[in-house]
Amino acid sequence: MVFPKDFLWGGATAANQYEGGWNEGGKGVSTSDCCTRGSRTRPREVTYKTKDGKIETQMMFALEAPAGATFGSYEGYDYPSYQATDFYHHYKEDIALFAEMGFKMFRLSINWTRIYPNGYDEQPNEEGLKFYDNIFDELNKYGIEPLVTLSHYETPVALTNKWNSWADRRTIDCFVRYATTCFERYKGKVKYWLTFNEINCIEFGGWLAAGVPSKNPEVLAKATLHQLLASALTVKAAHEIDDNYKVGNMIGYSATYPYTCNPSDVLKQREGQRNVDFYSDVQARGYYPSSKLKQYEQAGIDFTLSDEDEAILKEGTVDFITFSYYMSACVSADPEVIAGQSGNMLTGVSNPYLEASDWGWHIDPVGLRIALNDFYTKYQLPLMVVENGLGAVDKVEEDGSIHDDYRINYLRSHIEAMNQAINVDGVDLIGYTPWGCIDLVSASTGEMEKRYGFIYVDYQDDGTGDGKRIKKDSFDWYKKVIATNGEDLT
Ligand code: BG6
Repeated sequence: MVFPKDFLWGGATAANQYEGGWNEGGKGVSTSDCCTRGSRTRPREVTYKTKDGKIETQMMFALEAPAGATFGSYEGYDYPSYQATDFYHHYKEDIALFAEMGFKMFRLSINWTRIYPNGYDEQPNEEGLKFYDNIFDELNKYGIEPLVTLSHYETPVALTNKWNSWADRRTIDCFVRYATTCFERYKGKVKYWLTFNEINCIEFGGWLAAGVPSKNPEVLAKATLHQLLASALTVKAAHEIDDNYKVGNMIGYSATYPYTCNPSDVLKQREGQRNVDFYSDVQARGYYPSSKLKQYEQAGIDFTLSDEDEAILKEGTVDFITFSYYMSACVSADPEVIAGQSGNMLTGVSNPYLEASDWGWHIDPVGLRIALNDFYTKYQLPLMVVENGLGAVDKVEEDGSIHDDYRINYLRSHIEAMNQAINVDGVDLIGYTPWGCIDLVSASTGEMEKRYGFIYVDYQDDGTGDGKRIKKDSFDWYKKVIATNGEDLT
């Protein structure tokens, strides 16, 4: 069973984790430039100045800013996005390596702060625009289709400091201006766009996904609405500028299962699932599902949708659906079962049938097949898996080789699952861009130790390393997979 003829094999990255050059070429400071390096056991923190001028930090996933805080990056702190893995200075070399693997598609994000350094500027930064011209020209030289995310876990921090970023409606106009600038500038060079990376992560990562330093559900509900409106307006603008543009959404997806067949576990799982579905429902169907409105009402959240907002959402539905998939998790309604877990919000309740990565993410290729079926049944739109992969510690042997069989095994099983979804279940899957096709900084922990790439980058968490690129065993394996259009997975 083979993959469709024009299947878009490739790899995925994001500017905040890959690009570096954080203060070069007129770039402004983004929210990710204010996040410190963490590790498997030490959480990432966000830095800010209090109104008395004292520098303080708080955990990124638990951020609740004190009144009058000014966010920024300060001397004496270690910010991994500063250098990341330095695509900014290595793009020619890296793109040549992607071409050598046979990539048909390369997912990258544009750093909003390279184009509009403060987010609210009237005029774009020409040097930033030129940088991405160079990238797209280089990709086009090899016939690699760019897949461009407009917002991947970075917002201009000036917008946070000015009016609390996406919590304020005015951010919508700033984003649409930025997106429109990109659509006009890169017409003919780019065809596929994504609006917001893992838009559903706002609920537990307001800072990461929206630059909002708050856990307040009402603030986050507003930020969510503003991003959904911005996404819809962006889709509309893209189509007006070029009929050939295809714009997709992007959902962070983890398959979830009820921990037992106890109906309470099943109900709990469905509730969680609805929460994730809500985002793709709005972006693909164009309206808020009644379950979400009820949920807000019951939580006492002051939330209204104007007729104008409803019309915007309706007119800006996406052309295709994309999602990330790394793992699955179980959901339990039993407080004792929940209490017995590690409490890692990403991994949920442990599944006794599955193995986990060193970071506790449960490896589950069948969950990917289930996810593909769910998305396709619901929306009947073309799908892309735009992130998938195994974060692992890689060892460089004395002869410079890197034997990452664990990664090959993970990817093989997930490609087999995609094959089944296409050829057995009839899902319209058009592309696959595994995450961190070249090593980059981890988003959740901010470390280099957790690597996903086919290509190793010699930068270490202690600041050593010269950025040298080294092919891992998975490089040649993936090259063969692409060359045989997914037929030879050995
Ligand atoms: C997704 C994000 O959540 O998962 C990426 O879109 C991220 O930005 C990826 O890097 C893997 O997560 P992590 O924490 O291992 O980097």
